[in-house]
Amino acid sequence: MSLLNRLASLVPAVPPGAALAGTVTLPASLGFVPVAVHFDLFGALVRHGGPATAEDIARVVNSAAGAGGDDVIHISTLLVADTLCIMAGLGLVNRVDENHFVANAITHHMVAMPSAQHGAVHFCTEGLMAGAFLMQKLKDTNFAYPFAECDGPLQYAYRLMGQDHFAKQHAYTIMEAQGRMDSFNQFMVGKFFKAGTFPDRVTAAGYDLEAALGISGSSAGDQGLRGDEVAMVDIGGGRGELLLEVQARYPQLQPSQLVVQEFNAAIDEIPGVHLMEWNYKVSGEQPVRGARAYSLQHILHNLPDLDAVALVQKLARAMSPKSRLLIIEYAKNLTYTNLHASMIALYGGRERSSAEWHQMAGICGLKVTFEKYETAGESLVEMQRD
Ligand SMILES: C[S@@+](CC[C@H](N)C(=O)[O-])C[C@H]1O[C@@H](n2cnc3c(N)ncnc32)[C@H](O)[C@@H]1O
Repeated sequence: MSLLNRLASLVPAVPPGAALAGTVTLPASLGFVPVAVHFDLFGALVRHGGPATAEDIARVVNSAAGAGGDDVIHISTLLVADTLCIMAGLGLVNRVDENHFVANAITHHMVAMPSAQHGAVHFCTEGLMAGAFLMQKLKDTNFAYPFAECDGPLQYAYRLMGQDHFAKQHAYTIMEAQGRMDSFNQFMVGKFFKAGTFPDRVTAAGYDLEAALGISGSSAGDQGLRGDEVAMVDIGGGRGELLLEVQARYPQLQPSQLVVQEFNAAIDEIPGVHLMEWNYKVSGEQPVRGARAYSLQHILHNLPDLDAVALVQKLARAMSPKSRLLIIEYAKNLTYTNLHASMIALYGGRERSSAEWHQMAGICGLKVTFEKYETAGESLVEMQRD
């Protein structure tokens, strides 16, 4: 159920047809979000402070952009007015009256947390485009489903637009070629919001991270983490946010004990942890054997089932009886149906339910040993060797 439909069920005064129209006319509005981000309209509204007209915001934005020169692009007042009006409809700013807009809590959040704006651009650019071509892709392929990772609606969009060089490329490769990867990496650092650090979150969820890493509370026969043992390997760990949070909580862990594995060309150094190049798809076996924990944060939902199983099997073969596989993603619940759709359309991936995780563990010779699903924010699934 979409947000607007949920609101309609809470506010009976909204007729069902109006709720329907509100939901299905969203896509074009979402196309204006990157405009607002590009011209920093949210920042300008926050800095302005009070209710502002489109003229006020256009003046601030254009004077910040510089007096002129051929390469400085100014935004027209009409584009500011329409964009702010549409952002108000999306709830990202408030409309005071026909001509005045003011920042609301979401505007302030986006300005205080720039990663959220980068995320908004990703879903309202690549995500919007993939969604727009989903039905055509299905129709033209006799509804073949699920999509393959490099042959989904996004790739089909480029084929239909005559950009065949992108028609078989992974979404990340396309973004890299378009200079979009730095923005995507910035999105990944903070995402849309942070409910505490990784150690705080999992501890609050009832998970014993210290025992998992062998830091304390070691069980019978386990002498605890040795100096030459790897505590945690974060596969596809981006800019190392997760392991840096682990390092901050447990400063006794040496950089050599915290390994970020990446193939991302825009990431070449992460002080405080060991950055290792490993392409989980094309490289051979997992080079770090018997680590205490292997983590996959927001990785498996980017992968179709077969690719996800292949990756988990690679990790299962590297795991010792003491190793844990930690899967950190969003739950497949009503909060995240939009994300589920985005993963399908962009990557051939999907959010997964408890039943799907248990099934995947079984196929890979593992068993689910901990699972905690959050209504909003990251959930945690732990697997160990069966
Ligand atoms: C959705 S992001 C998640 C980043 C990070 N785990 C986080 O939660 O912030 C996916 C990450 O996987 C990396 N990645 C994608 N394909 C990969 C591959 N085949 N091998 C290694 N890393 C890969 C990307 O570069 C990106 O940093």
